[in-house]
Amino acid sequence: MKTYRDFEQTKEIQFYKEKFHSIQTSLQFMLQKQGIRNFMVTSANMSEGKSFTSANIATVFAEKGNSTLLIDADFHRPSLRKYMQISENIGLIDCLTGDKTLMECTQETHHPNLRLMPTGIAPLNPNEWIDSLEMKQLIEEAKQQFDYVIIDAPPLLPITDSRILSSLCDGVLFVTFAKKTKRSDIKQAMRYLEIADANVIGSVVNGVAISKSDMKGYHYKY
Ligand SMILES: Nc1ncnc2c1ncn2[C@@H]1O[C@H](COP(=O)(O)OP(=O)(O)OP(=O)(O)O)[C@@H](O)[C@H]1O
Ligand SMILES: [Mg+2]
Repeated sequence: MKTYRDFEQTKEIQFYKEKFHSIQTSLQFMLQKQGIRNFMVTSANMSEGKSFTSANIATVFAEKGNSTLLIDADFHRPSLRKYMQISENIGLIDCLTGDKTLMECTQETHHPNLRLMPTGIAPLNPNEWIDSLEMKQLIEEAKQQFDYVIIDAPPLLPITDSRILSSLCDGVLFVTFAKKTKRSDIKQAMRYLEIADANVIGSVVNGVAISKSDMKGYHYKY
């Protein structure tokens, strides 16, 4: 699914939406219990559904009336701007360098309660920008301006950005892809999170095949 519109046009949309609602409900309880309003989404490797998951969960937070900021912090493979069909590429880096205010670095999306902060033009040294006082301050400021701040992060194993980011975020949501993510990779990624003293608030298994019987319940009318 290249765009949020593609997602909305899938045959299984009701099924997906219900799943994301269910994940969001569990997350919200967890966040409330811990008194936190910020988390990042990561996984062990590339293409496991981090951006897909963060975009859809952020949408549900917004649909439930929460002002929500989704930050694309993956300078290596930014994808949320395309997914949300946003042309402006002013975002995270412009806020970190101090060239623009936080709100100036966010864009409207398909939902009025949801704003996206794209990456902006990737710097040569993303790691140094992630591991900065400015990044820490940006998250704090975002939390003051939005009910929920959700960060789409790079994968944990190939690059170090998410190990750093996980120590700056209040929580971490860990995504795996069914039958693709290796057990040993999950273990290594978890070890990295543990070393960073990250607070893992949940995990999502993406890419589980949907059978006809799974879909059945979604045809009932209430
Ligand atoms: N459950 C799913 N059903 C259908 N398509 C999916 C699903 N999960 C992810 N995709 C698609 O697979 C591709 C990779 O997903 P996504 O970009 O979310 O992964 P990622 O972990 O963020 O990747 P990257 O490491 O590049 O950031 C995208 O085109 C996305 O729309
Ligand atoms: Mg991604």
